[in-house]
Amino acid sequence: MFHKKLAPFPKDFLWGAASAAYQVEGAWNQDGKGPSVWDVFSKIEGKTFEGTNGDVAVDHYNRYQEDVRLMAEMGLKAYRFSIAWSRILPQGEGKVNEQGVQFYEKLVDELLAHGIEPVVTLYHWDLPLYLQETYGGWESRRVIAAFKDYCRILYQRLGKKVRYWVTMNEQNVFTAMGYRWELHPPNVSDLKRMFQANHHINLAQAEAILLFKELVPTGLIGPSFGYGPVYPASANPADVLAAENGEAFNNGWWLDVYCKGQYPKVIWQYLAEQGLTPVVEKGDLELLAAAKPDFLGVNYYHGGTVAQNEYEQQAASPQREKTFSGIDPYHIQPADEQQASPEKALFTNVENPYLTKTAWNWEIDPVGFRIAMRRLQDKYNLPLFITENGLGAIDVLTEDGTIEDDERIAYLQTHILEIQKAISDGVEIIGYCTWSFTDLLSWLNGYKKRYGLVYVNRNEASELDLRRIPKKSYYWYQRVIAANGELP
Ligand code: NOJ
Repeated sequence: MFHKKLAPFPKDFLWGAASAAYQVEGAWNQDGKGPSVWDVFSKIEGKTFEGTNGDVAVDHYNRYQEDVRLMAEMGLKAYRFSIAWSRILPQGEGKVNEQGVQFYEKLVDELLAHGIEPVVTLYHWDLPLYLQETYGGWESRRVIAAFKDYCRILYQRLGKKVRYWVTMNEQNVFTAMGYRWELHPPNVSDLKRMFQANHHINLAQAEAILLFKELVPTGLIGPSFGYGPVYPASANPADVLAAENGEAFNNGWWLDVYCKGQYPKVIWQYLAEQGLTPVVEKGDLELLAAAKPDFLGVNYYHGGTVAQNEYEQQAASPQREKTFSGIDPYHIQPADEQQASPEKALFTNVENPYLTKTAWNWEIDPVGFRIAMRRLQDKYNLPLFITENGLGAIDVLTEDGTIEDDERIAYLQTHILEIQKAISDGVEIIGYCTWSFTDLLSWLNGYKKRYGLVYVNRNEASELDLRRIPKKSYYWYQRVIAANGELP
């Protein structure tokens, strides 16, 4: 749709940036923190790029004041960060670690003192190890209760100061990576277990929302979902049908539960035929239906293109290798035909000839971003909060001490323009958090793949000084914020 003039961004639009505890904090065993599943998984040989882990990360835990000062100087309006559950409860349940709670209280106070709205993510993948080892993690209903208790502590301690809360970060990604592809903890490849754990996570997020409504009536809460629109490879109705299947399988499977309180019937049916549907107990569906989010958090990187049948299309769809340089968690192909693949009958992933790619083989698709925002509003009718969007690249610190990340600027610029178009189309958007503020640990790509607006000098091979150096994109985003989105 063409607009003669684009609508301005709302006056109170939250220009933000995001991070996650394990990826920035470091201090993995400082001040009483218990170990998380990631503290162990990242040390299994061969699991992460060159064995990198988050023991130190970018040491945000000890340098948060400096980081917040840099945010304030940039003019940031919102900072999205996650809380490490095992800092609050070293064993995930039971005794509270006061020093852990105080760290987040101090961080929130520091942000507020600089006029930055904190956006708190409750769960960004770092499950306390004790819960995994003792109960089997998300496969156990016991962990749902533990999560609710953990949320209660945070609502009580931070609820008066923090207005925006995110429940689960990218449930679609962490369940598949952890229970299907053996690329995240708990390092499992078992679809039945994946769907069961996923059901429990749905219940946990519903419990978290209901408790929030009780304890933090003035706040707003919602999940952050890794959304990618699905395109048909052609106008062949069979491909269009495949794309509908893809939307339901990749997205609706979670979003319908979050927003409509029900699993999409078509997918349920396919999974039931394969014996993969989770055990649903009495009261579960009522709980899911009762918990309505206030907004939908959207992490957007790219979508996907599908065709009707995996075997016919195989030649046109070279399989992406499971290497550390090419993993795209939103778009992994089964490694071989033997591997169980519940979506096989529904659609097959193909390349999109119209899109270019990043160095990590991720499609660059700003128009897809607009499609995503419009589609999500139409389908779920909730305000959207863009909780992640950004470019992973190899950034180079030049000899004169600058980082000329023009590629990132172009990426952000084209995506922000699509937000403005979506707003002009009538989509309600609360804010936009670019991923990420500082460089941080990429789960599987270590510190090679950088997303930050601020460079962190963190190269194990040489000096580990963790110096923060604003990149060119930092100064660019500073101007964007000052102009409330009127792009420089
Ligand atoms: C989504 C995840 O939430 C975040 O942790 C990750 O680093 C980025 N995408 C980039 O892959």
